[in-house]
Amino acid sequence: MAGEIITIQIGQCGNQVGKHFWNQLSKEHGIDRDGSCKFDDDPQKNIRDDDTNPFFKKNDSHRYTPRALLFDMEPGAVQDVTNTFPNFFDPRNVSVSRDELGAGNSWSKGYDYGVSNQDELLNIIDKEIDNTENFEGFQLIHSVAGGTGSGLGSNLLELISDRYHKKFISTYSVFPSDESEVVVQPYNTLLTLRRLAENSDASIVFDNNALLNLSSQVFKDPNTSYIHTNQLISSTMSSITNTIRFPSYMYNSMSSIFSTLVPTPDLHFLLPGFTPFTSDYVNNGKDYKRNTAYDVILDLFDKSNSLVSSRVDNPTYFNIYTSLIGSTEQNDISRAILKLQSRINFAPWSSTSIHVNVGRRSSFLPQPEQAVNGFGNRNYVNGMMLANSTSILSVFERTVRTFDKIFAKGAFLNTFRNGKMFQNDWDEFSECREVAQNLINSYSTAEQENYLDDILIEEENIIGNAEAENDIGLDSNII
Ligand code: GTP
Repeated sequence: MAGEIITIQIGQCGNQVGKHFWNQLSKEHGIDRDGSCKFDDDPQKNIRDDDTNPFFKKNDSHRYTPRALLFDMEPGAVQDVTNTFPNFFDPRNVSVSRDELGAGNSWSKGYDYGVSNQDELLNIIDKEIDNTENFEGFQLIHSVAGGTGSGLGSNLLELISDRYHKKFISTYSVFPSDESEVVVQPYNTLLTLRRLAENSDASIVFDNNALLNLSSQVFKDPNTSYIHTNQLISSTMSSITNTIRFPSYMYNSMSSIFSTLVPTPDLHFLLPGFTPFTSDYVNNGKDYKRNTAYDVILDLFDKSNSLVSSRVDNPTYFNIYTSLIGSTEQNDISRAILKLQSRINFAPWSSTSIHVNVGRRSSFLPQPEQAVNGFGNRNYVNGMMLANSTSILSVFERTVRTFDKIFAKGAFLNTFRNGKMFQNDWDEFSECREVAQNLINSYSTAEQENYLDDILIEEENIIGNAEAENDIGLDSNII
């Protein structure tokens, strides 16, 4: 049985993205917005082939409750989520700061709030873990640039990685766009990057530059908003978790998916891509008459389908995992892989495998005869890719460049002066800067042939488990 995963959504961005994620999951599992499921009461239709247990608790009266914790320092975003889904979330899993003022974009306010409320927050987490039988780990959703998602998010990452250190921790982390709305964003981002590097096992990175550009293409709406960007993120999250929720013989745990992608603990930042965004995933998405696995796999490597903007032109790839849903032919997949193997750069020490998994489409989504405009759904393919590559260097370099610019002048540091961590000096900033530089160095040296020779592979440096290794061995689609 797949292990349970607890989702922690923090701050405005975390809760808004979480809202779209749960909306998508409910759709795919036939669950209504109040947690009820009419199919479960109908013995004729009660033939589930999905596994709701990793993400939902189910009570005796057939009500599904997300294994989700909603944390924020002001009530607006959380209220929006709970109003949209009345009686869906467990009210004991919602925690909002009593002064309801938010962190005012200050990482240190968010961090210190976590320190002061550690017992209450850990109590909520522990209680949720008590509702599991085979707890696998956490996925945390947040922005790295505001105050709550970044500061409280950082504090919680430290806490959970210390307290539940054998459990898997993944993050869905939204980086800011170049047009910084808040002057201290570079500080918040750098301080959070350290915790992503040190306290998470896998971080899936998004950035608002790419998300906003891609949204304007997908939705053809001049007024691109977070409602759009968040649907792109939730589409990706739904695809990553597809094999956990619709299990087959492999990739049915977080650790088995991510151990395919993370060769060493340092290299755990992953770049997502997705195409096409059809109405299965986004409102008013395009419906396709037909495309093939060949088209989709090649398109996933097109920069315009990436959810992270990168200036690295010819990246070096360490690992690649794609998940396809729809009607696929093995021959199309093999042709696409062969083409890519001759086209893209792999690190000299990595294998040139492209892991392709064919996931299952939910039977609760509209079926071909119900599809809009007469287009059948069965004939097209959706693809999601997670890549571990040097493209991520752009994100790290942008983070340190914007930080260096303002830190060198001592600009806007007043925001942090009252933070407990900054009472005596600014050493924390220097240490975080060093961690970011180490990340840049790790990804750069990983392009070299002797990268693995330089690493002392201790037991604790290897992630994953026996099940994950079996999974990889069984992957018939690896070429
Ligand atoms: P405080 O407001 O300081 O309490 O922190 P917070 O974590 O709630 O802030 P927020 O989540 O608003 O983080 C600010 C950053 O996140 C900025 O870079 C915003 O552009 C971005 N952001 C905010 N909401 C969203 C969202 O719903 N989607 C996306 N993609 N980005 C968001």
